[in-house]
Amino acid sequence: MRKLTFVLLAVLCLSARADEGMWVIGNLSEKTDSILRTLGLELTPEELYSTETPSLNDAIVQFGGFCSGVVVSNDGLVFTNHHCGFGSIQDYSTPKHDYLKNGFFAKSFADELPNEELYVLFHIKTVDVTDLILGAVPAGATEVQTDSIVDAMSSQLTKMVDYSGKGIQSEVNPFYKGSKYFLSVYQRYDDVRLVYAPPQCLGKYGGDTDNWMWPRQTCDFSVFRIYADKNNDPAEYSKENVPYHPRKYAHVSTQGYRDGSYAMTLGYPGGTDRYLSSYGIESTMRTTNDVRYQVRGVKLDILNEAMRQSDALRIMYASKYASCSNYWKFSLGQNTALDNLKVIDEKQQLERQLAAWALEDTVARGRYIGVLDSLKVIYQEEYNALYGYNLWVESFYGGSDIVSFVLTNMMGVLRDNEDDFQKNVAKAYRDIDVDTDKKVFLAMLKNYIEHVPNEQFLPQQICHEVDSLFNGDYERFVDYLYETSAFSHPELLQQAHSITELSGDPMINVGIDMISVLFSTIWGTPHREDSYERILCDGIREMNHDHEFYPDANFTMRLSYGLCKPIDFAPGTTGLKEEATQMITSPRSFLNKHEQNPDNLDFELIPSVYKWMKRGKFSKQYIDSRTGKLPLCFLTTNDITGGNSGSGMFDGKGRLIGLAFDGNWEAMSGDLKFDNALQRCIGVDIRWVLSVIDDYSGAKRLIKELTIE
Ligand code: ARG
Repeated sequence: MRKLTFVLLAVLCLSARADEGMWVIGNLSEKTDSILRTLGLELTPEELYSTETPSLNDAIVQFGGFCSGVVVSNDGLVFTNHHCGFGSIQDYSTPKHDYLKNGFFAKSFADELPNEELYVLFHIKTVDVTDLILGAVPAGATEVQTDSIVDAMSSQLTKMVDYSGKGIQSEVNPFYKGSKYFLSVYQRYDDVRLVYAPPQCLGKYGGDTDNWMWPRQTCDFSVFRIYADKNNDPAEYSKENVPYHPRKYAHVSTQGYRDGSYAMTLGYPGGTDRYLSSYGIESTMRTTNDVRYQVRGVKLDILNEAMRQSDALRIMYASKYASCSNYWKFSLGQNTALDNLKVIDEKQQLERQLAAWALEDTVARGRYIGVLDSLKVIYQEEYNALYGYNLWVESFYGGSDIVSFVLTNMMGVLRDNEDDFQKNVAKAYRDIDVDTDKKVFLAMLKNYIEHVPNEQFLPQQICHEVDSLFNGDYERFVDYLYETSAFSHPELLQQAHSITELSGDPMINVGIDMISVLFSTIWGTPHREDSYERILCDGIREMNHDHEFYPDANFTMRLSYGLCKPIDFAPGTTGLKEEATQMITSPRSFLNKHEQNPDNLDFELIPSVYKWMKRGKFSKQYIDSRTGKLPLCFLTTNDITGGNSGSGMFDGKGRLIGLAFDGNWEAMSGDLKFDNALQRCIGVDIRWVLSVIDDYSGAKRLIKELTIE
């Protein structure tokens, strides 16, 4: 009976327990480690991470500087998401060989496609260097002094590591808003080739309509391979390179999971701000999300129209469209969830608690007294600058590609780090259609002027020119600009070696005007919230000193643990469809969406995929024994954010059961506040991945490389 009570209690605790946290894999406390074990992890700490012997850590990569991936074969095969490989798939797509639309499969090693800009990083180790770094900061140093000492110390440390060669590189990152510093060491491989991509109607099924939402039926994966020189060391692309042999690769499990099974992700969550003050959250909602949603909405309409004109334009803008729309929808989702879940109220409650706690001991806790009042005032004072800055970034830096190209290269000159101008031109103009770009710029300029929060942030020269030379007509101004500038005639750019040779070009004048606006917005306003946010973060940790706090995500390698679990929808959120309450989706719901949305391109299927799914003949080994169906996507309680895309999802034995690719709409406030009841990680089941590779494409050579259990 006692045993039963204990088991019952344990189960109750489990179901109420939060799986919040992105833990530093080389730095797990005993407490965290024992939670992992209670939940069902069977690997020893050394099997998870070790600097001595091969461990699961060695099978995880940071993919291309923006995603995660997992090595799944002894020949360096990497699984990541389709949306992570998207740029590479697009680069090789043409209307004639439309790999986006039809997918791609390299039939032999020789057919695998190199990618100049792609690389992967293997995590070697992480060391706490807080004492070294902060020890060098004298007491009483100002914020600016502290920053410069931290920078200097960090760069000294990384230089010592980086000189050891063989692709070894390192980085010092602040944790807990700069209260701690860790040094992470990586090995970088630069020859990464595209091996397989499913057709977009599988890899991006549901498109923007379904993005950030559950239920999902997206087979969001693509396959790459790492190449090395004949000594297995990193090397630039060369025909002589050979497949890389990893220290460790992940085994794949077709045995699945059930409600309550252990699940963990290993990967590179990009950024969260979970300790942000209520004032910071309010500011993010109004000066970042609202602005981004509004401006990108305008831009996306124009791109959308262009992409419908021809296959060439559709392919050319595919990747830019996807990344723009991803955070366009995110901004709406984050604000909606912050409101629905009353996150600001909750934060304010915590802050009141902190204020009262600080007053209990005005000597020891003096640092925290008044910090909230300061934050309130600072965010008020900076409102226009933050709003103006984000409006500037979204409209100009992230608006027209030509303007963005000009600004980036001008900034390079200002910062004295110009790189190869001709290379930049070739890269940028591969995916620019001048007519479309002109429409974007006109719309962005007009929209900026309409929304600018104060006169000071207007591009004075442009406004003056439009008034005096074009009678206030922005369209005529932009026509003239695109007619006369070398930047809208790429053939004219081919002679220049540096952007400075083009000074006097009307587009450069536009750039100068915009950069001076930038100096008057955020750069002209003291930017003070960070140091107060750090004090607040310290206060919250000190007040709850018996609670173990994980550091915010910062694109370093992390482990998130949890369980496979459906969502219990809370009232006031986006509601509940029948299938939404289930943990796994099936081919039936895939076809349902297609059939019920005949006019929505996001659910359009190419005939071969439609036939294959409709026929429903999937290999037996991929069918879930519990449901009797092919499992498509599934839910776990793992903490997740952008950058985690492509993270391996593992069972308790450390076997790959899926690839993480998204979060859910109900809890999109998650980057700022984890919601224990609602937040989920959406993954593509590895059996859906294998069935597409095997049953749909017949790509046996890839299946043979894997170790399937
Ligand atoms: N929301 C996902 C993420 O940020 C990306 C999903 C890509 N799909 C899409 N329809 N854009 O990782």
